[in-house]
Amino acid sequence: MTPLKLLNFQHILTLSVFTGAANGYYFHTWMECIYSSPDLSDMEFIEGLYFNKYPVIKFNSTVGMFEGFSDLGIKTAEMWNNDTAFLQQTMAKVDTYCKPNEVIWDVAVSERPTVKLSSVMPGDGTHPALVKCSAYDFYPQPIKVYWLKDGVPVTSDVTSTEELPNGDWYYQIHTVLEYTPKSAEKISCVVEHASFTRPMIYDWSKTRHLKSPAFSSVCLIVILRKRAWALLPF
Ligand SMILES: *[C@@H]1O[C@H](CO)[C@@H](O)[C@H](O)[C@H]1NC(C)=O
Ligand SMILES: *[C@@H]1O[C@H](CO)[C@@H](O)[C@H](O)[C@H]1NC(C)=O
Repeated sequence: MTPLKLLNFQHILTLSVFTGAANGYYFHTWMECIYSSPDLSDMEFIEGLYFNKYPVIKFNSTVGMFEGFSDLGIKTAEMWNNDTAFLQQTMAKVDTYCKPNEVIWDVAVSERPTVKLSSVMPGDGTHPALVKCSAYDFYPQPIKVYWLKDGVPVTSDVTSTEELPNGDWYYQIHTVLEYTPKSAEKISCVVEHASFTRPMIYDWSKTRHLKSPAFSSVCLIVILRKRAWALLPF
């Protein structure tokens, strides 16, 4: 058998079925991008060529070479490994194929956190105030949640949990800030996550926790009624 021609390589990728018979012969390729680091620094590109269920050639970017399995595969791998340009082009798929696709898929499967700010302790003359920032139901796991005081990041008096798995693929995280209330001071919680295109800032308004849920529902009903009246024909 002659080794597979290099020029045919891309065609083979797309032409997967050689015959239309019921139990046809199948030539297929399988591309994998394997990584675990959030910054994608350990990205590995694997490409496998198979005839029916048997592997013919495999490329592993960590090894940087093709490996052949059948007679045809061994000869073809030797020829491809001799071609420096082709080898470099295949190696480059870590950056040209894996990393760009990872970014697209990461956004496609990511789920935005629901962020809530709440008062744990309002604070008085003798005790500091405690305010909690919670991010619920987000995916993937990496997230950054931190506090700003008048726009400046706060590093002390902060207690945070890890990203806690809900058990349903989603995560939650909580961070509590201890502070002494001062007038005209702006406290905000910042959330950075793959599902957002920029850091999201949530301001803590000191009056927020005074509003009761009942008060909000009353407002909503009034607004809905007004809208309903407006629609009535007279
Ligand atoms: C690729 O090669 C490296 C180094 O030999 C190995 O650790 C890794 O498991 C291989 N990956 C696959 C998917 O076979
Ligand atoms: C690959 O290169 C080696 C050394 O340059 C040579 O001996 C061998 O014949 C080459 N193989 C193919 C398939 O071109």
